[in-house]
Amino acid sequence: MTTQPMAHAATPAEMLASILRPNPREADYAITDVEGEIPRELNGTLYRNGPCQKVLPKVGAGALHLFDGDAMVHAIRFEDGKAHHLSRYARTESFERSEKSGLYRGGINVEAEGGAEEGIDAQPNTNIVPHGGRLFAMVEVAPPFEMDPKTLASKGTWDYDGKMLGMSTTAHPKIDGKTGQMLIHGYQPVEPYVQLYVVEPDGSVSLAEAVDAPWPSMMHDFAITENYVIFPLGSIYFDLQPMLDGRGFGEAVQARDDLNMKFGVRRREAGSPTTWIDVPSAGYMFHPGNAYEKDGKIWMDACTYENPAGLLQDLATVRSGASRDAGGFAAHPYLYEIDPAAGTCKEKKLSDSTAEFPRLDDRRVGYENRWGYAGTASPAAGVESYFRRITKYDRVDGTSVHRETVPGQWVGEPVFVPRAPDAEEDDGFVLNLVYDANTDRTAVDVLDARAIDATPLARLWLQERIALGFHGNWAHADGTPRD
Ligand SMILES: [Fe+2]
Repeated sequence: MTTQPMAHAATPAEMLASILRPNPREADYAITDVEGEIPRELNGTLYRNGPCQKVLPKVGAGALHLFDGDAMVHAIRFEDGKAHHLSRYARTESFERSEKSGLYRGGINVEAEGGAEEGIDAQPNTNIVPHGGRLFAMVEVAPPFEMDPKTLASKGTWDYDGKMLGMSTTAHPKIDGKTGQMLIHGYQPVEPYVQLYVVEPDGSVSLAEAVDAPWPSMMHDFAITENYVIFPLGSIYFDLQPMLDGRGFGEAVQARDDLNMKFGVRRREAGSPTTWIDVPSAGYMFHPGNAYEKDGKIWMDACTYENPAGLLQDLATVRSGASRDAGGFAAHPYLYEIDPAAGTCKEKKLSDSTAEFPRLDDRRVGYENRWGYAGTASPAAGVESYFRRITKYDRVDGTSVHRETVPGQWVGEPVFVPRAPDAEEDDGFVLNLVYDANTDRTAVDVLDARAIDATPLARLWLQERIALGFHGNWAHADGTPRD
């Protein structure tokens, strides 16, 4: 496995491909290379997940789809002003089979090398979610995979106590900021296209229902409010038949300009019907930021892609280093005003700057929030601009503040941690992984949320590069997502 810096890759597309290279080293060490001082209020663990293929296909890592790869879970543990880095693979059955045989297990872009018995077994590589003292590695095409919160030892698949109605659930549960209930949905290309579950703080499953939807889509994420669930149905159609015919995922998921987005709105109570409300534009969203109720309306912000066809193309080719940048990665912040009584929706584009991985103070999930944080694009055009800065948004006055990286650095998803359980919104820290191509290492930045553009309070240099991943979450030291 090569580890040389890639700062001098010839093109921006090659640079982006280089920061996605897998690094299969599993870590277990105290972090000693620290700039600044780690705040002693940080007492808990930043979990992180992302694709990190161990046994590569013979055609090379560049052939993989952005979503392909074994799940490498990281735990950055903070205690008493010190930090420790632990990482472990999610050891699913197919991961272990592939590790033993040395044959690539198969994915979206490349078939299994060991024959049909190897199968395409999705790895839980997208998010890592603590809930009720348990820890779940998640991907939208498989059930949750449980790991030990302290040791990251693999524990196995969880099927919602036998109540699963579909093939999988997504990587984006929403944990109600006040009740601690975990709501999560599943989607699939056969009926019922959408399913909804509610997991209580004690881990019991109190609701499992099918949801009628107008068409099957790749519904990556959703949103909740105090009383409602919002399902974003994008202008992407998920047709099972090409996969059954052996023509693969690329033909199964189709961008459809003739389908405007719809939001499925239903109350959270058992047995509630779903109303599908037309959104003015065609588009797609991976991630809503937050949603809440106010003045009889539902307000939801999201990062919305206006070019779903380009998005699908860029996802499939970004790792090759030869991507011609179809412009599909440009998601913009939008605000949606949904009237659940009238069945109407208005939309407003909030910025021309590209944004993704929106987060907020988790204590506000489903309730009105003022502040939001996201990875955003620098003013430079095209693929080289993405994920080059962290932006903090003020939803009251509409302003934003940026933390820019230096050349050769990329940011990941920002995670907010309150300074104390009763701290005000925005009084705390923003944790962010920064990849530095100049040294080929990853650092964990601890930012003061109220001075996000200032020098980090602490920068923790890891010994290695973490392949740029997807999502993470904070868990307080007692193993729960919040005190
Ligand atoms: Fe996601």
